Amino acid sequence: MTAIVGFGGYVPERVMTNEDWSKLVDTTDEWITSRTGIKERRFAADDESTLDLAAIAAERALKDAGLTADDIDEIIVATDTPEVYTPDTASFLQYRLGCRNIPTYDLGGSGCAGFVQGLDVARARIHFEPKRILVIGVELISRLINWEDRATSVLFGDAAGAVIMDSGSGRAEVLAVLAGTDGSKADILTLQTGGTRHPFTAEAAARGDHQRLDMNGREVFREAVRRMSGVVEDVLDQIGKRLEDVALIVPHQANLRIIDAVGKKLGASENQVYVNVDRYGNTGSASVPLALWEANEEGLIKEGDLVVLTAFGAGFHWAAAALQF
Ligand code: UT7
Repeated sequence: MTAIVGFGGYVPERVMTNEDWSKLVDTTDEWITSRTGIKERRFAADDESTLDLAAIAAERALKDAGLTADDIDEIIVATDTPEVYTPDTASFLQYRLGCRNIPTYDLGGSGCAGFVQGLDVARARIHFEPKRILVIGVELISRLINWEDRATSVLFGDAAGAVIMDSGSGRAEVLAVLAGTDGSKADILTLQTGGTRHPFTAEAAARGDHQRLDMNGREVFREAVRRMSGVVEDVLDQIGKRLEDVALIVPHQANLRIIDAVGKKLGASENQVYVNVDRYGNTGSASVPLALWEANEEGLIKEGDLVVLTAFGAGFHWAAAALQF
């Protein structure tokens, strides 16, 4: 048996509203709200980095679990906006938290599905050998995006979310995790410069390519709805449950229209689906653990509740987890 024994989250203090964006690029609150449901997002301060966000979320999860850094046996960090190119953000986090010389890993490049994929990896690791694993989703996307590209810049925000997984029982038993990838759609959402195909050169930097997120918004939208709803149905099938048994679905918070379409496709009622995209925008791999932490803090999840997480991300990846509180 694998369980989540602690939850944590963190959003930076700086609030960036749609109104603020409308002063920087050719956009309006009306456009952003009607297309995405986003009203505001949080941006990290200039002196904050990915590690700072991750460390606060991790410390909150440790406190929530009644544990210390010494009790953690492994760290998995899901992020597309790492502290540095190499080594992994998780190495820095291990030292910052004051953990022992435990193994650490980053799940990089999985976009917004990274955290739920991390749960899958952690669950398998714990099954193999009982241990406590800190799993984090963290993004500092505001430092990566091209602020002048209105088609992508207004969508994102910075945040971190964390859970601690353990063998045995805990606050939420992880009943099942499912994940899938369709690599034929790897090019519908990419940031290409910096890898070996398009190395980071002075010319590329001068063109701003290092911040150019290429996104086929409509295709991402279609795939997101299809995959996030499909994987919820599959995970429920696997545990022999139906939608009526689910107290709360916690979807990746990319866009309110995507969330609504997933809920509709599944036949879920409005109060069965958690939403905080209006306050934080799309926080990438931090989105699901942040929403899970907030839903918990808001008292929306009670003992006995079945909660289903569902996410999609660049790759094209999708993943879902069923949690029995
Ligand atoms: O982890 C990343 C996941 N990515 C996503 O979740 C994105 C999924 N896709 C979407 O959410 C939607 O496709 C968007 C919100 C990105 C765009 O909505 P859309 O209804 O597909 O709009 P569109 O891209 O077809 O653009 C419609 C118009 C265009 O103008 P024209 O060509 O019709 O004159 C855009 O140039 O809206 C324009 N536009 C904007 N206008 C004002 C694009 N961005 C903006 C903006 N403000 N910020």
